[in-house]
Amino acid sequence: MSTAIKLPSDSAKVAARDLVAGFDVERVRSDFPILHQRVNGHQLVYLDNAATSQKPKAVIDAIVRYYEHDNANIHRGVHYLSQRATEEFESARKVVQSFINAAEPREIIFVRSATEAINLVAQTYGRQHLGIGDEVLITAMEHHYNIVPWQLLCEEKQAKLQVAPINDRGELIPAEFERLLNSRTRIVALGHVSNALGTINPIKQITAMAHARNIPVLVDGAQAAPHVRIDVQQLDCDFYAFSGHKIYGPTGIGVLYGKAAVLEAMPPYQGGGDMISSVTFEKTTYNKLPHKFEAGTPDMSGAVGLRAAIEYLNRVGIENVAEYEHELLTYATQKVSAIPGVRLIGTAKEKAGVLSFIMDGVHPHDIGTILDQEGIAIRTGHHCAQPVMQRFGVDATARASFALYNTKEEVDVLVRGIQKVQEVFG
Ligand code: ALA
Repeated sequence: MSTAIKLPSDSAKVAARDLVAGFDVERVRSDFPILHQRVNGHQLVYLDNAATSQKPKAVIDAIVRYYEHDNANIHRGVHYLSQRATEEFESARKVVQSFINAAEPREIIFVRSATEAINLVAQTYGRQHLGIGDEVLITAMEHHYNIVPWQLLCEEKQAKLQVAPINDRGELIPAEFERLLNSRTRIVALGHVSNALGTINPIKQITAMAHARNIPVLVDGAQAAPHVRIDVQQLDCDFYAFSGHKIYGPTGIGVLYGKAAVLEAMPPYQGGGDMISSVTFEKTTYNKLPHKFEAGTPDMSGAVGLRAAIEYLNRVGIENVAEYEHELLTYATQKVSAIPGVRLIGTAKEKAGVLSFIMDGVHPHDIGTILDQEGIAIRTGHHCAQPVMQRFGVDATARASFALYNTKEEVDVLVRGIQKVQEVFG
C-alpha cells in the first residue's frame, strides 16, 4: 500500500497533489463546501474526522433531492412516491452490500449508528446465547460503545467480560488474545481500527482463531470504513458495524452487516411496524430479513445520503484514499514526533487515520483550545475510550484525525500550532 514518503518541497500544494499519483486532493477539497471558511481569522484546518467527517456536496444534494422529489414512507404505500422512496432506500442497501462485499442485500440492516448496531447484537444474539459463567471477549482498545453494551449484558446474565491486552505500541497481542478464547467464550467483539490509537487490528487472523472454536466475531468498523477497503467475506466476520457520518454520509444512519444464517437465527431487536409478518394479540410472526431488524419508519433520507457518500468514495477510489491517507499519516507522524516534548500515544505498525499525542506540561484541553484559536479543529479528551487512557497512564490525549481532504500543508499548520502551544506554555 505504501510508497516512499516525499518530504516537504518548495510548494506544499504540489507536494500534496503528488503524494499519490492520480489523487488530486485540491479537487477533492473543492467537493466539500464546509472546508472553505475561516475560523478565528484563519483558514479552517479540520482534523477531527474520527469524531465526524465533513460531507461532500454530492451527499448534501442527494438529501435535498430526496426531500424535494422522492419523500414518502417506504414498504407501505401502493402510491407512486412510496414506491419510489422504497426503491431509493433498497438501492442504498445494495450499494452498501457491494461496498463491503456482503453476499446478499438482506445481510445489510440499517440502524442509527455503529452504537446501535452493537447494542442490537448484544441484546439479540448476546441475550440468546449468554448464560451464567459464559464470557464475552473484547480488547483493551475498545470504544465505550463496544464495552458498555457487553457489560450490561454480562451483568444481566452473570457472565464475564474478558479483555485481551495490548502492548505499549497499542497493538493487540494475538497469542494473548488466543489464550483468552475458551469453551465459555460466546462472542468476540473488537474494533477494526481504534478511534483513540489508530491501530488496525488483524481481523482475519482473529476471526480464524475464534472460528476454530466456533465463536462468532463482531467487528466495529466505524473507524475503518472511511480508510480501508472492507470485504466482510474475506474478513469472514459474523457481524460488521459502521456509521454513515464517519464515511462522509449523514448522521443518524449506520449499518449492521450480519451473515444471513446468523441473523436468521436471532430474535428481533425492537418491535414495531415493518418488522412483523402478522400480528394478533395471541401471537406475532416476524418479517423476513432484513426487515425483521428494522422496526418503525427508518431514516430514508439518511440511507439515500449514505448511498451518495459511498458512491462518492467509490468514484475517488477507496484504495487511492487509503494510500493517500497512509502517506499523510506517515508524514504527520514524522513531523509531530520530531517536536521535542511531544509523545505519541499509539505507535502501532499498522495504523489508519489517527495521531494521538500528549505534550510535556500542557493539558490536552489547553492544546485543543490554543489550536482552535489558530483555526485548527482537533479532539481532546478520552475519546470515549477511558480504558485506553488508563492503559497508557494518561487522562486524555490530543487527537488529530485525518480524512481524504486533508493535506500536508495542513499538517504543517498543525505542527506550527503545536509549536505555538509550547511557546504559550514555555
Ligand atoms: N467515536 C467518536 C470519536 O472517536 C465520537 O471521536
